[in-house]
Amino acid sequence: MENNLERRLSQRWKRDLPPPLWNTLSGLGRVGEKLGLRTFLVGGFVRDLLLRRENLDADIAVEGQGGAVRLAREFSRKGKTRIRVFPRFGTATLYLPDEYRIDLATTRKETYPHPAALPRVRPGSIAEDLSRRDFTINSLALCLSPSEFGKLIDPFGGGPDLKSRKLRILHPQSFQDDPTRIFRALRFEQRLGFRITPDNLRLIEKTLAEDIISRLSGTRLTAEIRHSLSLPAVVPLLSRMEKLGVLAGIHPSLKFDPELSRVMSRLQSGLKWFRDKNLTERFPGFEPWVANLAALTAGLENNDWESLRKRLGLSPRVSGKVDGGRRPGPEVLLRLEDRRTANHRVFRLLERIPPEAVLFLEAQSGKEPARKAARLFLSRLSFRKTEINGNDLKKLGIPPGPIYKEILGRLLDQRVDGEIRSRKQELEWVKKHYAGIRILP
Ligand code: CTP
Repeated sequence: MENNLERRLSQRWKRDLPPPLWNTLSGLGRVGEKLGLRTFLVGGFVRDLLLRRENLDADIAVEGQGGAVRLAREFSRKGKTRIRVFPRFGTATLYLPDEYRIDLATTRKETYPHPAALPRVRPGSIAEDLSRRDFTINSLALCLSPSEFGKLIDPFGGGPDLKSRKLRILHPQSFQDDPTRIFRALRFEQRLGFRITPDNLRLIEKTLAEDIISRLSGTRLTAEIRHSLSLPAVVPLLSRMEKLGVLAGIHPSLKFDPELSRVMSRLQSGLKWFRDKNLTERFPGFEPWVANLAALTAGLENNDWESLRKRLGLSPRVSGKVDGGRRPGPEVLLRLEDRRTANHRVFRLLERIPPEAVLFLEAQSGKEPARKAARLFLSRLSFRKTEINGNDLKKLGIPPGPIYKEILGRLLDQRVDGEIRSRKQELEWVKKHYAGIRILP
């Protein structure tokens, strides 16, 4: 029975994986065994393989003397694969053609000096390596060594949990050891459509009641918030975070109420529109999670936002974008909501607001004219430019001075409104309105 399952697994697995990945994985198993090492696929890759979800980031655990670094070196010597090794951490990365990447790590055990601290790491067995992990479904290993090829190692019942779509930690202390697992559990629920078991939910509530999130460093907390706010299912995720007290654990004034839920649902359709239009390419540095952060924090008083910003250690870039969504007052929204507002006025209202914050403003309003105006701005108006510049004005005999800004500004407005469409028309307009201009001494 067991052997049958293993044979079926490895057949399916061969079928599901792209050939370069499959060849490298089986090759690693063979080379490892010759060196007396046991090689395993581990973590999310095994989970997704069993769920038949695509995942091209393979994680390999190597048990035995010299571990991952020794195996990676020997493998690349034979097959000339590009590698990077990190002997201090006992890890290595293989870079395959077509951007596939395989991360290797020596099997290890971890101890937590105190709750929420980064763990102390020492080499250990595969069983110890699996028992330091977060959830049963992530604590599975598939053996790659030829003598045990395809053998599934499942000490915590991850296989049955995958079938019944359950999320469970391995031991009651786990959320305290690493509170980022609370965030991970909630994300996995949404991403995989799984449920945290009722006793694990109680453990989360108990851990949160000990104010454990306050022990996480700003960097680690921000990384979790960034991942969470990047999920397409961010709305149900935030509502679960609110109910369980995760948001209050991040900052006591953070709330997710039905009104914000509506705004953020609209924001998700704005973000989808932005992606579908390929605007991410035209706005380099655009960060969808920051749009969600702007929405989530918009209701905070300035001093609360200030203390949250400091707690998270947000970069000036990120906080600047969030501020961009906080600053525009109701008058900006009113103007955007008025369909009579000319394009150049829309342009001037939004030109200094980061695109993430523009999408948030659109969602905040929820009115059709504001949506149209914001999307017109993001997809077309914001790219309009004048073709002539100060040099051209000089050539026309206009003496340099603040008037240049005025002329080019008026030209840009007309370009935005579509009244002027070429360099020739720009020059004609300047000649008509400004030729012969002399600045009084
Ligand atoms: N892990 C853990 N505790 C954490 C983070 C990670 O135990 N706080 C372990 C889990 O076994 C996880 C593996 O490290 O499967 C790899 O972590 P990561 O790449 O972050 O997650 P994946 O499970 O691979 O999920 P995905 O990449 O799909 O988000």
